[in-house]
Amino acid sequence: MKAEKAINWFFLVHILFQFLKIHAKVPAIIVFGDSSVDAGNNNAISTLLKSNFEPYGRDFFGGKATGRFSNGRIPTDFISEAFGIKPIIPAYLDPTYTIEDFSTGVCFASAGTGYDNATSKVLSVIPFWKELEYYKQYQKDLRSYLGNEKANEVIREALYLLSIGTNDFLENYFLFPNGRSSQFSIEEYQEFLVGIARNFVTQLYSLGGRKISIGGLPPMGCLPLERATNFLSGGECIEKYNDVAKQFNQKLIGLVKELNMKLVGSSFVYSDPYGLLYDMIQNPSTYGFEDVAVACCGTGFFEMGYLCDMMNHFTCKDANKYVFWDSFHPTEKTNAIVADHAVKGSLAQFLV
Ligand SMILES: *[C@@H]1O[C@H](CO)[C@@H](O)[C@H](O)[C@H]1NC(C)=O
Repeated sequence: MKAEKAINWFFLVHILFQFLKIHAKVPAIIVFGDSSVDAGNNNAISTLLKSNFEPYGRDFFGGKATGRFSNGRIPTDFISEAFGIKPIIPAYLDPTYTIEDFSTGVCFASAGTGYDNATSKVLSVIPFWKELEYYKQYQKDLRSYLGNEKANEVIREALYLLSIGTNDFLENYFLFPNGRSSQFSIEEYQEFLVGIARNFVTQLYSLGGRKISIGGLPPMGCLPLERATNFLSGGECIEKYNDVAKQFNQKLIGLVKELNMKLVGSSFVYSDPYGLLYDMIQNPSTYGFEDVAVACCGTGFFEMGYLCDMMNHFTCKDANKYVFWDSFHPTEKTNAIVADHAVKGSLAQFLV
């Protein structure tokens, strides 16, 4: 009798919780982008750009290497937690999750990808347009799982987070002299990418999305990998790349303004990681960091992906002392600070 009552209570609370989740102001967080927000989609595809092995994830729940490019959680996980939804956002291509999990948040991002189709080809990762195709399939699955009415509510009220663009410059434009840089000036290339961004989010809007955050570029000239190529000048940040990031971010701000005027009922926001990250890099001790020019993993100059593995005996003991985990990606601690900044800033209007 007692056990039965306890079970009834459990079910009531469970149902209430599910109800609250679906009727929260933001019932789900849906993520598009690159390695800054990839929760493990690259595990399921044939690419060299992976991170589902130690020491990646060593500070994640259960010390699990999920394919996130960090020692722990990524910003979107912390944002989901701050919105009271769940502590991690699962990868769409991870077969251990179902539409029930995805109904409150899902990640379509792929490490190594960019706005530009050509960028995704460099490391054979998921092109940006295909992330939207996966999202269309997700909508179908969501409708059969929740029914049309509830699914449409989730689609409309969900928060969409985009974080992409760094690879278009560092892995593509500036890397191949006979590629995009022979076709476009840097200014033209930025316009080309903004055009792709505009097209992408306009489609997302047509599909029912309303609350959409477009993330800006980080100070990409200060990533340890870029600094390492600059070692002849003392390993300083490459200011040329930082300037490009700033210019591009200005264009994204313009795009957000334009879309808010043009698309009725939409709430576009621009989320800026640049200012905060740049301050962290200039004043690491303010944030409790000791190292910023080199990363925790390996020598800290160039390792990422397979070069950052458990055989690398140089890897640091305490990642919390570092801004960067590998030569291209922040530590969990940095990710938490970046997420907190976004939740209190650009995303605050979407909190209940
Ligand atoms: C990228 O590729 C897709 C699929 O082939 C195509 O539909 C799209 O137009 C391409 N985007 C650009 C900007 O060329």
